[in-house]
Amino acid sequence: METNTAIRCRGLAIGYPAAEHGFGAEPVLDGVDLDVPQGGFLTILGPSGCGKSTLLRVVADLLAPLGGDITVLGGPPHAARMRRDIGFVFQDPTLLPWRSVRANIELPLQVGGGRGTRPDGLATDDLLALLGLGGLGERMPDQLSGGQRQRVAIARALLSRPRILLMDEPFGALDEITRDRLNDELLALWRRTDTTVVFVTHSIAEAVYLGQEVLVLAAHPGRVQEIVDLRPLKDAEGRCDRDAPEITAVCAHLRRLLAAGSGVP
Ligand SMILES: Nc1ncnc2c1ncn2[C@@H]1O[C@H](COP(=O)(O)OP(=O)(O)OP(=O)(O)O)[C@@H](O)[C@H]1O
Ligand SMILES: [Mg+2]
Repeated sequence: METNTAIRCRGLAIGYPAAEHGFGAEPVLDGVDLDVPQGGFLTILGPSGCGKSTLLRVVADLLAPLGGDITVLGGPPHAARMRRDIGFVFQDPTLLPWRSVRANIELPLQVGGGRGTRPDGLATDDLLALLGLGGLGERMPDQLSGGQRQRVAIARALLSRPRILLMDEPFGALDEITRDRLNDELLALWRRTDTTVVFVTHSIAEAVYLGQEVLVLAAHPGRVQEIVDLRPLKDAEGRCDRDAPEITAVCAHLRRLLAAGSGVP
């Protein structure tokens, strides 16, 4: 196996065990073949319920696969989780309501026997500034807007500088201008580090702007529909002109794919 592959799936079947029997469940996604290179940026598009969050859960070792193979950084997902190589920004950010913004961000440093941040990790104040949360460190979660809470969850995932960052619709609750700014910040951060990012979104424009590759999932049956390589369209910083004709053409192609793969007759 190539050593520079961050996530490798072969014939992967994922889903949830049937409640009564504990086996025999229909997979949510089946036959997933996927290679995400180390330092890659994969965005995932697909209809609601097709299994995007489920796929992230399997990568993060929060859910066991039903079948097939998955390796994360050359080994089983469990080993990557034990090494704390994986950061996860969940679709619904969960902050502890009784802890300040700062204490929420620093939480991962305090659990798990107090193992600290990596030596090259980011300082809490840098993260607050980076995510536009400067001055909010001492606030409590119920004193924040939904988008601010989401940014705190992102800061928490970034603090220990994970080698793989899984982000599940992280910017869905943000206004478009803030979202564009955070897209640029995320690209800059990704370029500065050699983090591998897997990013789920419902925005075709966002998927194309951020991704080096776009994984398009289809529903009924759940499967990989296409993997679109955007690397030829990106500059060395991973950026592109959102309005360039080749970018809008890819967006139109993806829109057609999503319509065809929605499983709605
Ligand atoms: N804990 C669970 N137990 C059983 N089924 C589940 C569980 N979580 C999700 N599912 C089902 O698995 C399928 C995939 O769910 P998943 O959350 O991965 O979808 P998604 O692609 O992330 O959708 P969305 O875009 O709406 O977030 C859905 O049919 C969902 O109902
Ligand atoms: Mg989801």
